[in-house]
Amino acid sequence: MTGLVLSEQVKELGKKQLDFSNVSCLPPRIQELLGDPFTLKDPKKFQEVLKYTTSKSEIARILHDNPASDAMLRIVYPDYNGHPLTDGLDYFLSHSLSGQALRDRLQICSSWLAKNFLLPQKRVIDLGGGSGSYAFESLRIAGRVPNGFIWECLDLDPIAIQIGEDRAKSLGIQNSVIFRHGNFMSAKSIQKLADFGVLIGVLCGMDKETSINCLERSKVHLKKCGEIFAATLLIQSFNEDPLTFRILCNIGGWQLRPKTIEDVKDIFKTAGFKIINIFSERPEGNGQYAIVHARRD
Ligand SMILES: C[S@@+](CC[C@H](N)C(=O)[O-])C[C@H]1O[C@@H](n2cnc3c(N)ncnc32)[C@H](O)[C@@H]1O
Repeated sequence: MTGLVLSEQVKELGKKQLDFSNVSCLPPRIQELLGDPFTLKDPKKFQEVLKYTTSKSEIARILHDNPASDAMLRIVYPDYNGHPLTDGLDYFLSHSLSGQALRDRLQICSSWLAKNFLLPQKRVIDLGGGSGSYAFESLRIAGRVPNGFIWECLDLDPIAIQIGEDRAKSLGIQNSVIFRHGNFMSAKSIQKLADFGVLIGVLCGMDKETSINCLERSKVHLKKCGEIFAATLLIQSFNEDPLTFRILCNIGGWQLRPKTIEDVKDIFKTAGFKIINIFSERPEGNGQYAIVHARRD
């Protein structure tokens, strides 16, 4: 056994025989081992594949070391503006449907945020905002910082915070995009409540109960009737791109918990949010993410 505690969705994916024969960056033996569900039950074969994927892919290595890290996103997002990757396993992962979905999520959400949350005298709290990718991209799209506007990124990861602070300084917007190190789940009394909350990529690894708890905690940061803009992974992702998730979840231990759209609706409702709209990262819908705009009670 691998010793990993697998989520139900990852376990289900692990039972499937998959075909990696078209993934030309992988040697035939690794293609075969990755495709075979029995590899996951054989410690020797499992270690062989894990050693291969984590030695050949920075994305796999990052997620294996810290599944909650936003460092992987700093590899995948730049493709949006021209990407340095040209080949190898990271190129395959970054150019998979799931890698593209992450970039489309960044583009669709940032365009929406630029239009709807970037308003004069308003305050955004970005819960688990990492290095501020959504803040920077939304402000880039808006083309200016609205008068008196503040976007605060609150995150547990000091490296992400430092990267974000450096970027804000280099853009000369360090008074408008601010970073705070902390756990948004344990915050009790907040000095400056936000008009708007952003919660992107944080619920993806949480089960229903934990997601409800997380959303309930997020309300502590918001003014009464404040709005939230959140994105979380749907089961569609595992169905349409099993190869990527076999490498990153079954082998790498990334414990994603993709949900159904009904689960997502239930989670927001139970946590005390009224859903205003649900989008997808694909304009035509049916994408990998549920992107939810909701108002707290
Ligand atoms: C997958 S990353 C998403 C980063 C960013 N929202 C994005 O989509 O580009 C998840 C981030 O949430 C942060 N995080 C998770 N739980 C947290 C908590 N309770 N308090 C603060 N940050 C948290 C992690 O440190 C990580 O940076």
